[in-house]
Amino acid sequence: MTYLLEGKHLNKTFKEKAKTTVALSDVNFYLNKGEVLGVVGESGSGKSTLLKAIAGMLKLDQGELFYNGREYTGQKPRQTGKFLQMIFQDAKSSFDPRMIMERSIMESGRGAKDPERVRELVQLVGLEEELLQRKPAALSGGQCQRMSIARAFYSDAEIFLCDEMTSALDVSSQARVLELLQNLKKEGRLSAVFVSHDIALVSMLCDRIMVMKDGICVEQGTTTDVIRNPQDAYTKVLLESAERQNI
Ligand SMILES: Nc1ncnc2c1ncn2[C@@H]1O[C@H](COP(=O)(O)OP(=O)(O)O)[C@@H](O)[C@H]1O
Ligand SMILES: [Mg+2]
Repeated sequence: MTYLLEGKHLNKTFKEKAKTTVALSDVNFYLNKGEVLGVVGESGSGKSTLLKAIAGMLKLDQGELFYNGREYTGQKPRQTGKFLQMIFQDAKSSFDPRMIMERSIMESGRGAKDPERVRELVQLVGLEEELLQRKPAALSGGQCQRMSIARAFYSDAEIFLCDEMTSALDVSSQARVLELLQNLKKEGRLSAVFVSHDIALVSMLCDRIMVMKDGICVEQGTTTDVIRNPQDAYTKVLLESAERQNI
């Protein structure tokens, strides 16, 4: 069986002076074409590290990554960018500081340049189109995050890696972005690893869920199974606390 994306035995430990943090401990995952894999877990559980590892933004201690069955472990974002797009919280550093946004976004696409589509997407994420003429340093963190969502939709990347994608959005742009994601999904055009602390959003959008705690994947299964019939004690705690927050 060949998956669109697969990670085997991923391990990453951060060593600082006196502190050692195991951010990924023997994590395994797969993603099929047209599927959305949700990643949930408390802050510090390794979710962002997992996405960065998949994107080649950090060096794994151990483990292998595969795209369509071909190993790509060790490839840098310049190479992985051909098949995946990362939407993440610290989006500013993902833009070329010398380029205005309009150019950065258009360069992420492979087809003919379409400034009209760029403007549409920037409005969709709730930004003024004038901001397209600015370089990343002249935008706030939240504005850059929105620009990175527009860039991902503009690019024809096969895989999206989304890290708390909707956290920088106000309610109305959140609804528009969600609608776009759901439409892509209906058309079978959304393959994504979707990190979010919003369990309601994850259960709406994701086909399968993996639950992370202290760098370990404590549970992995279909969304229905994990939500309706969680096996791991930590998953139960996570779901109960999400339920309480929704009251
Ligand atoms: N560059 C880094 N240097 C040292 N520790 C890090 C680094 N990046 C992440 N960590 C640590 O690894 C753990 C997992 O972090 P992260 O993947 O960002 O968690 P999450 O996204 O689930 O909140 C945390 O304890 C975090 O402090
Ligand atoms: Mg994170």
